Amino acid sequence: MNVIYPGSFDPVTNGHLDIIQRCSKKFNKVIVAVLNNNSKSGFFTIEERLEFLRENTKDIENVEVDSFSGLLIDYAKMKNVNIIIKGLRAVSDYENEMQMALANNKLYPELETLFMVSNTRYSFLSSSLVRELSLFGGDVSCLVPKAVEIALKNKFKGA
Ligand code: COA
Repeated sequence: MNVIYPGSFDPVTNGHLDIIQRCSKKFNKVIVAVLNNNSKSGFFTIEERLEFLRENTKDIENVEVDSFSGLLIDYAKMKNVNIIIKGLRAVSDYENEMQMALANNKLYPELETLFMVSNTRYSFLSSSLVRELSLFGGDVSCLVPKAVEIALKNKFKGA
């Protein structure tokens, strides 16, 4: 069974990597799909986000890193995958996730969204939190991979 784990990954955090690792043990193939939203530029470029993900999943054989634009359901159809994986960190994620899962399922009834409960170590973690901590010189070394930590420092140098 193949699955898609979609997101912005701006940037990838240890919370995302934990989900990817756990999924890779349960499914034949995990396609990590970075949303390329042309109307929103993001903090890191799509290429940077893909590179962080590729570098940090290169030892997991059944993980593919890709980007997509447009609707997730169309990407899932194109990839011939009908399972979406989302991480659930806290109750506050539920409402938004539920809405997306139901909308996607309405438009593409074969598509199921499966939720994986985030590791409690990372249940507070988000990409914007990491960006904010970095902006003010906070230590994010235990929250993101090394390359991301360095890239954040470089981006905020002189900011
Ligand atoms: N560990 C750490 N952080 C996590 C996490 C985890 N396990 N799971 C989610 N997050 C964080 C992300 O870092 C992000 O943080 P931020 O907002 O501080 O940057 C936040 O949760 C939201 O995740 P994100 O991936 O940015 O967005 P999303 O979950 O809302 O959905 C897509 C992303 C790509 C799945 C969704 O926007 C999409 O499908 N877009 C395509 C267009 C489409 O089909 N729209 C219709 C949908 S109904």
